[in-house]
Amino acid sequence: MNQPKKVLVLFAHPGQRYSKANDEMARVASDIRDVTFVDLYARYPRFKIDVAAEQEQLLVHDVIIFQFPLFWYSTPALLKEWQDLVLEYGFAYGEGGDRIAGKLFMPVVTAGGPEEFYRPGGRNNYPLRDLLRPLEQTANLCGLRFVPPYTLFAALRAPGDDRLERHSRGYAKLLQALRDDRLDLEAASAMTLLGADALPVREEATA
Ligand SMILES: Cc1cc2nc3c(=O)[nH]c(=O)nc-3n(C[C@H](O)[C@H](O)[C@H](O)COP(=O)(O)O)c2cc1C
Repeated sequence: MNQPKKVLVLFAHPGQRYSKANDEMARVASDIRDVTFVDLYARYPRFKIDVAAEQEQLLVHDVIIFQFPLFWYSTPALLKEWQDLVLEYGFAYGEGGDRIAGKLFMPVVTAGGPEEFYRPGGRNNYPLRDLLRPLEQTANLCGLRFVPPYTLFAALRAPGDDRLERHSRGYAKLLQALRDDRLDLEAASAMTLLGADALPVREEATA
C-alpha cells in the first residue's frame, strides 16, 4: 500500500460545553490513525496563535480540514484569526508563497438551519456552498485543491434521530478515505456538498 496521506483536522468551536454534533465528530476524528486532530480553542484560549508552529504543522500534512459549526454564515472567530495570521504573504500566497500549494483543503461544517433554508427564497437565501465561497477562494489563491464541504444540516436536531450517528460514521469513513487516497476527487469535485449519504469513496487506493 502507498504511504498514508497525513490529514490535519483544525477544529474550532468556542462553545464546546453545549456542542453535541461537533463534540461527537471530534471524538470520532481524534481516534483515527494518521489524523492529527487539533482543538484550536483549547490550544489558543487567548487567541495568541503561534504562527511559525502552525505553518510548520501545515507543511507536514497533505490534507487540511477545517471542522467548525457555522456561526453567522462563516467560521468561528478563532478560525478566522488563524486564517488571517497563518496564511501569510510569502508563505501561502504572493511572491514565493507556494508552500502549501498542491495540498487538499476541505471544510467540515455543521449548520443549525435545515437544508431547505439554504436556497433562494429560503430563510437564509443562499446555498451553503455559496456562503462558503470565501474559504473556497482562499484555498484557490493558496493553490490548495478545494474539496466540497462535508455538511450536516439541522445539526441541533441531529442527536435526536439517527443522523448524528450516521454523520459521524460517514466522517470517519471520509477521514480514512482521505488518508488512504480513496476519496474519488473527480466525483467529489462534481458535487456541491458531501454528506453521509453522498461520499464518493473507493474501496481500494489507486496504484
Ligand atoms: C453565534 C452563533 C451563530 C450561529 N450562526 C448560524 C448560522 O449562520 N447558520 C446556521 O445554520 N446556524 C447557525 N448557528 C447554529 C450552529 O451552527 C449550530 O448550533 C451548530 O452547528 C451545532 O453544532 P454543535 O452541536 O456542535 O454545537 C449559530 C450558532 C451560534 C451560537
